[in-house]
Amino acid sequence: MNQKAFYKLTYGVYIISASAEGKDGGCVVNTLSQVTSSPARLSVALNKNNHTLHLIQASGSFTGTVLSDQADMDLIRRFGFQSSRDKDKFQGIPMERDCLDNPYPTEGISARFSCRVISTLDLGSHVLVIGEAEDAEVLDESAPVLTYSDYHLKKKGTTPPNAPSYQEAPKTVVGWRCSVCGYILESDTLPEDFVCPVCGRDASYFVKL
Ligand SMILES: Cc1cc2nc3c(=O)[nH]c(=O)nc-3n(C[C@H](O)[C@H](O)[C@H](O)COP(=O)(O)O)c2cc1C
Repeated sequence: MNQKAFYKLTYGVYIISASAEGKDGGCVVNTLSQVTSSPARLSVALNKNNHTLHLIQASGSFTGTVLSDQADMDLIRRFGFQSSRDKDKFQGIPMERDCLDNPYPTEGISARFSCRVISTLDLGSHVLVIGEAEDAEVLDESAPVLTYSDYHLKKKGTTPPNAPSYQEAPKTVVGWRCSVCGYILESDTLPEDFVCPVCGRDASYFVKL
């Protein structure tokens, strides 16, 4: 099987958020997509280790926001490379609450969908969540949306192991991989004071390839 074929699939970049048991949470995904038009339904694949999935299963709803290409890497770092289990990711950023009482970020966002969960499918490592949109809003008409390809090419972003589209580095690469975000430093040595340029973790998070 040619693994490179998977790179030909195109995606956007989104934040899925939810609230349950008095806690807010959310994570970056590339797997949000519309699956039916009438009624309007969306699907998203969430890793079983992600706290956001737990919040969605407890509350029965989620909110999906579409990132624009103006979205800051700090927003993606905040939602994509740490867990809502340990941190309130909404603290200190511009946010609102929707009709389902879910929090969502409002800066660097093109559109929002507020969905009630109607079905889930256990896929082993991930759960496919299907939601029906109860509300939708355009927050930014002008900025283009952020594509998964531009996230990698222009923003120099990486995809962590919890994402369904994650791929191991080819065996031929010599270097060090950040265990949090998957960034690869192609080098024989790892400087002690090295800091990951994507997620900001120090050298102790790197593993030798
Ligand atoms: C570009 C990108 C795409 C991602 N796509 C997914 C995805 O589709 N599904 C998923 O479960 N995690 C995905 N992740 C990983 C989660 O965002 C990450 O594991 C997050 O820390 C989980 O946070 P939580 O524990 O608060 O839910 C992605 C991360 C990035 C940066």
